[in-house]
Amino acid sequence: MPENRIKAVIPAAGLGTRFLPATKAMPKEMLPVVDKPAIQYVVEEATDAGIRDVLIIIGRNKNNLSNHFDSVPELEEKLRAKGDADKLARVQKSSDLADIHFVRQGEPKGLGHAVLRARAHVGDSPFAVMLGDDLIDERDPLLTKMIDEHESRQATVIALMEVDPDHIHMYGVATVEPTGDDDVVKVTGLVEKPSKEDAPSNLAIIGRYVLSPDVFEILERTEPGKGGEIQLTDALEELAAADDARGGVYGVVFRGRRYDTGDRVDYIKAIVQLASDRDDLGAELRPWLKDFAADL
Ligand code: UTP
Repeated sequence: MPENRIKAVIPAAGLGTRFLPATKAMPKEMLPVVDKPAIQYVVEEATDAGIRDVLIIIGRNKNNLSNHFDSVPELEEKLRAKGDADKLARVQKSSDLADIHFVRQGEPKGLGHAVLRARAHVGDSPFAVMLGDDLIDERDPLLTKMIDEHESRQATVIALMEVDPDHIHMYGVATVEPTGDDDVVKVTGLVEKPSKEDAPSNLAIIGRYVLSPDVFEILERTEPGKGGEIQLTDALEELAAADDARGGVYGVVFRGRRYDTGDRVDYIKAIVQLASDRDDLGAELRPWLKDFAADL
């Protein structure tokens, strides 16, 4: 993968209230998904797309996040002395992935506010925003396609996925027009968490964005919206509706494997799916799962 100039921003400063008390002293992005914290999957996805510079927006529990991406000489020395090359490689991987930077959000005033905190680091260049709530299977590269679309259209690109109408109220939802490419739509409007009746489509925003830096100036004046939070969707709605020199907004429709880790049941499903697919764990887990399910 050629090196990419685009920087990635990973907001990890939310309160994670759905996972309390696990998130009392730890950000939800650090919850393990099988044997890696969710955020490491996201950083690996960024580096797989050629990104080398990652900014993590941190909240009150920043220490275990930054420690995770640091080297741990004592632990590495012990594993080296034991000759355990496999575990040593696993420990070292998280500190060798990319140039990781941190900035504090201050107060958790919403995703839009967290993204605005990236302004000084990102400057006047396009950048990717990646949420740890959504894990994208490495076999279905989404970010690379989004960066390509951003480069060819010189526009903001968001990831969309068809969701069940009964779940649409949990997402930002897009009004779209076709582009002639089945996998790409023009986004003409966005609404955050509409009711099933008011949803303009069944295309929901999932947690990957390639944003034009114009979004910063809009976020500066975006008022708190749904839930009293400064919503990224509200700022993108302005870019989508304007269709001016700023390039508008396009959606890449993702049809690959996505694992939702944002709420408890989906998080458990993500762990089971990912573990049963793994070469080192699946053979033992799958027959057990079948027996377990048969007894339910
Ligand atoms: P969510 O709304 O899913 O996260 O934000 P939350 O508020 O932490 O979770 P719950 O609902 O209380 O359980 C989506 C993403 O935006 C980040 C979160 O860390 C998550 O990755 N976020 C949200 C921030 O970084 N700052 C905020 O102020 C809000």
